[in-house]
This record gives sequence, C-alpha cells and structure tokens, in this order.
Amino acid sequence: MAQRKLLNMFAILGLAAASNGVPNIRIAPGVEMPMLAFGTFRVSLETCTVQAGVEQWLRLGGRHIDTPDEYGTQPDVGLAIKASGVPRSEIFLTTKIPGPIGKQAVIDKILHTALPQLGLDYLDLVLIHFPCKSLKDFPNKCGANFRAERLDTWAGLLELRAMGKIRAIGVSDYDVEQVAEVVEEFGEAPAVNQVQWHLAYHNETLRSAMQLAGTALEAWAALGGPTASLFHSPSISLRDPRLKEVAARYNVSTLGVNGSSGTPMGDAARTATCSEEHARGDLAAFEFQLSPKDLDLLSNLMPQTELVII
Ligand SMILES: NC(=O)c1ccc[n+]([C@@H]2O[C@H](COP(=O)([O-])OP(=O)(O)OC[C@H]3O[C@@H](n4cnc5c(N)ncnc54)[C@H](OP(=O)(O)O)[C@@H]3O)[C@@H](O)[C@H]2O)c1
Ligand SMILES: *[C@@H]1O[C@H](CO)[C@@H](O)[C@H](O)[C@H]1NC(C)=O
Ligand SMILES: *[C@@H]1O[C@H](CO)[C@@H](O)[C@H](O)[C@H]1NC(C)=O
Ligand SMILES: *[C@@H]1O[C@H](CO)[C@@H](O)[C@H](O)[C@H]1NC(C)=O
Repeated sequence: MAQRKLLNMFAILGLAAASNGVPNIRIAPGVEMPMLAFGTFRVSLETCTVQAGVEQWLRLGGRHIDTPDEYGTQPDVGLAIKASGVPRSEIFLTTKIPGPIGKQAVIDKILHTALPQLGLDYLDLVLIHFPCKSLKDFPNKCGANFRAERLDTWAGLLELRAMGKIRAIGVSDYDVEQVAEVVEEFGEAPAVNQVQWHLAYHNETLRSAMQLAGTALEAWAALGGPTASLFHSPSISLRDPRLKEVAARYNVSTLGVNGSSGTPMGDAARTATCSEEHARGDLAAFEFQLSPKDLDLLSNLMPQTELVII
C-alpha cells in the first residue's frame, strides 16, 4: 500500500483550473466537465462503501461523480450527494444506461429510476454504457450489429435533453465506426466516449478519430487498476521503476500527465479510491508540467506484445 501511493497518472496544466484544482473541459455547448471523475464500481473500492468514497471525494473538493444504472450504486451516490451538502449546481453527475435499450426504455429508466435514485432533477451527462445488446459482448464485440438499437437509444436521450432532464449525451466503449453512426444519423458527435485507457492500453487511431469528431476521450481504469485486470488487459504497475524515475525528476509523489497534448491519458479520466491520501493526490495532480521528452517516454511504455482485445 505504501508503495502504491507514489504515482498518479493524471493530467493537465495549461488549462484554466477550476477552484478545486481540477480543470474543466467543454464537452458540449455550454457544458463544462471536470476532467477527473470518481468512479463507483465496487471492485475498485476495496475498503470503503460507495457512499463513503463519494462523500470523501466531495469533501476533498472533487466535483465529478460517475456511476451507472446497472451496478445498483445510484442510491449510494444520491445519499452521498445529499449528505455532502455540496450545492447541486457545483456537482457534475454522469450516469450510464445499460447499452442500446431503445428509446422508450431509456426515457423510462432516466425518469423513473436514475433521477429518483440519485435524488436529482437533472443529470449532467448520460452515456450509453456499451454498444452491444448482450453483456457477453462487453465491452465491444458486436461491430455493426445493433446499429438500429443504438440510434433509437440515442433518440431517447435527445428527447430527455430537450425536456431539460440531461445536459449532455455520450457513449462508452464505442469504436470509431459506432461513433460515426451517431454523427451520420444526427449530425452531432457524442460529447464523450469513455473507454479503457491507461499507459499499457491506448489506441492512437481511436484518439485521433475522436479528436476529429469532437468527442472527448475519457479514460476508465486510468491507473491500470482493478478493472483492467478484470478484463485481462495489460497493465503497468505503479511500482514500475521507469515511472518512479520520471516522478523523481519532478520531485513529486504524484505524476501528472498533460491530458490535452498527445499524452498517454485521454482528455479526461476516472479513478476510484478509498484512501484519503490517494484522493488528495489524484485531485492535486493538475499542478505541474511534464517535459515533452517525458510525455513521449510515458506514451511509449506500451507493452511490445499485442494488445489483449477483450
Ligand atoms: N465504462 C466502462 O465500461 C467501465 C468499465 C470498467 C470500469 N469502469 C469504471 O472505471 C472506474 C475506475 O476503474 P479502476 O478501478 O480500474 O480505476 P483505476 O483508476 O485504474 O484504479 C483504481 C485503483 O487505484 C488506486 N488508486 C487511486 N488513486 C491512487 C493514487 N493516487 N496512488 C495509488 N493508487 C491509487 C485505488 O486503490 P486505493 O483504494 O488503495 O487507493 C484503486 O483501487 C470504476 O469505478 C468503474 O466504474 C468503467
Ligand atoms: C484501435 O481502434 C481502431 C478504431 O476503432 C480499431 O480499428 C483498431 O482495431 C484498434 N486497435 C486495437 C489494437 O485495438
Ligand atoms: C522536494 O520535495 C520535498 C517535499 O515536498 C521538499 O522538502 C524538497 O525541498 C523538494 N526538493 C527540491 C529540490 O525541490
Ligand atoms: C498542456 O496542454 C495545453 C494545451 O494543449 C498546453 O497549453 C500546455 O502547455 C500543456 N502542458 C504541458 C505540461 O504539456
């Protein structure tokens, strides 16, 4: 545990920092998203409850919370928000609907499950959690299948946005073609595509295509943590001597990476932690600049073996 505190792979200097130190990015007209989110998957939170983890994050100044419908964690997040006393307008809440479930189902789910469970009257960002109908295909083994279902679901999200119930719409685990479907059909790109993304797992083709489309790339398993192992993806240990060396060069215990200038990280990232010290480190990771040489070094730590396609 002591050794794991040394690093944090997050991002970003050179962008206007919000008052809590985590900068925002604009993901849609008039919608600013804090670049670091707290994820609520129970596997990532070993020694605390979801409610306690979220409350701690809010208490330390974190403002972006990310949860999905299907882990059953929306009620915990709702309780944490309420207990925190942080005004709704300061919080950025992302939730996800379980795949391409169709227009009426998504409207019902947001109005009758997500909003009541979270105790909120609007959501900042809603993502289609994965592009395929079956969880066996998670995160993305369905390619062009279920195109109609994905687009129908998007149409439901557009209605919710028109009703003022959600501010921005995005996707998760989509490939380039699946993002292009949305643009072709609706003339608008997803605000966000949240994908697995860390030092040992990043796909530059996807990154360039998202940049071109105007879709912010958000990293899950940004530290190569528990969920990366869950999907048997390669990972680089936070104890890796090459990472320690870079951190030492900056005399930092946390290692930030500029998210907006071609670095290993995406435009935004998510992590999860029960540790107060780690949470403080994560939230403070936006305070120094890496040299282009070190950015390059970190970008090229990818294992030489083929990526594990999951
Ligand atoms: N959209 C999708 O399809 C999808 C799929 C999978 C996962 N996710 C989401 O991604 C979120 C994060 O996944 P992940 O757990 O793999 O994330 P991660 O950020 O790669 O790893 C989190 C782990 O890192 C440790 N940690 C956090 N800050 C640290 C620091 N400063 N120094 C050292 N260690 C630190 C935490 O342990 P300690 O508690 O010991 O600090 C935690 O176990 C989940 O909540 C999940 O909801 C999304
Ligand atoms: C990277 O993403 C592109 C575009 O979605 C995809 O065609 C390619 O197969 C991906 N590469 C790997 C190694 O996953
Ligand atoms: C490195 O950081 C430590 C702890 O913050 C501080 O005491 C020390 O003066 C720093 N060293 C340099 C060379 O900046
Ligand atoms: C981070 O990115 C911004 C925007 O591209 C840039 O202005 C800034 O200099 C970068 N900082 C680092 C550490 O590279």
